[in-house]
Amino acid sequence: MTQTVLLVGATGMLGGRIASHLANDDGARLRLLVRDTTSKKLGKLRDQNVEFVEGDLSDRGSLDRATTGVDVIISAVQGGPDVIVEGQVALAEAGKRNGVRRILPSDFGLDVFKATPGEHTAFNMRAQADGRIAALGLESIHILQGAFLDLFGPGSPMIDYDKGIATFWGDGKMPIEATSVEDTARVTARVALDRTVPAGKFAFYGDRLSFNEAADVAEKVVGKSFERRSLGMETDLRAAMAVADFGTRIMLAYSLYMSNGQTSLDDVQNDRYPDLRLQSFEAFLTTQLG
Ligand SMILES: NC(=O)c1ccc[n+]([C@@H]2O[C@H](COP(=O)([O-])OP(=O)(O)OC[C@H]3O[C@@H](n4cnc5c(N)ncnc54)[C@H](OP(=O)(O)O)[C@@H]3O)[C@@H](O)[C@H]2O)c1
Repeated sequence: MTQTVLLVGATGMLGGRIASHLANDDGARLRLLVRDTTSKKLGKLRDQNVEFVEGDLSDRGSLDRATTGVDVIISAVQGGPDVIVEGQVALAEAGKRNGVRRILPSDFGLDVFKATPGEHTAFNMRAQADGRIAALGLESIHILQGAFLDLFGPGSPMIDYDKGIATFWGDGKMPIEATSVEDTARVTARVALDRTVPAGKFAFYGDRLSFNEAADVAEKVVGKSFERRSLGMETDLRAAMAVADFGTRIMLAYSLYMSNGQTSLDDVQNDRYPDLRLQSFEAFLTTQLG
């Protein structure tokens, strides 16, 4: 049975890819809530069989228009508390008013629910929004795929491919789950339409490797040696967070949980869709540099 999916965030990096997969899936009728229907970021989506609703998470009327007749909502928005907390809760409330069955909020990270309150603003906001959405009684599915592999590819702030330096906090031995943006989008589109997926966390990853192992892979793919450079241990990182400005503190919080493993993924469902083969870091890097 075809399901009507409302996606918010189609002009974004991840949302655009989720939209492309759903636009080409016979099981979905796709509706997009966008702030600007003429945005060039919509690319080919404007020529596909996709319905557009112009609106904003802060505009309740547009949320009612967008959620009427919808089975599943996917949110791939990014922003501060006005968007991630208040905006997404308003979206879910509209969904509830209009009979939506399921929502996939914009989680898309390591396990945001394991973050210590007050320590990781981005994860804490998502957990707060998700708690309020769950209280509405909608079926919520939390897509948790770890870090984006793309952050470790060419142009990465952590792996300098020109200079041959991998930079990290800690001893470089903590494994981190990571998935490419493209694979995250493919799995998200599949899960959204799969009625047999129960409410709760849906965790998966394309690869699970430490910074040392990532440097090994970079050496193999690039064909030169990479220096491993630690910026300090956890106490040094926490000391840096204590004096950092707001934006830097958020970035350091990601490093904290990548280096101590606090938000690593459990109950991983990598085998659920055997036809969706997820890229390893080596395969991803080979494609990027090839
Ligand atoms: N795990 C990782 O390593 C990782 C890395 C990056 C991102 N992520 C996560 O992936 C998700 C998507 O991130 P992204 O980088 O793809 O985001 P992005 O490229 O910044 O796109 C954000 C989207 O949200 C839309 N949006 C923002 N405020 C809105 C509002 N008030 N009403 C309607 N739409 C609004 C934007 O629309 P406009 O075009 O109109 O602004 C845009 O389509 C986020 O949850 C983010 O945290 C995870």
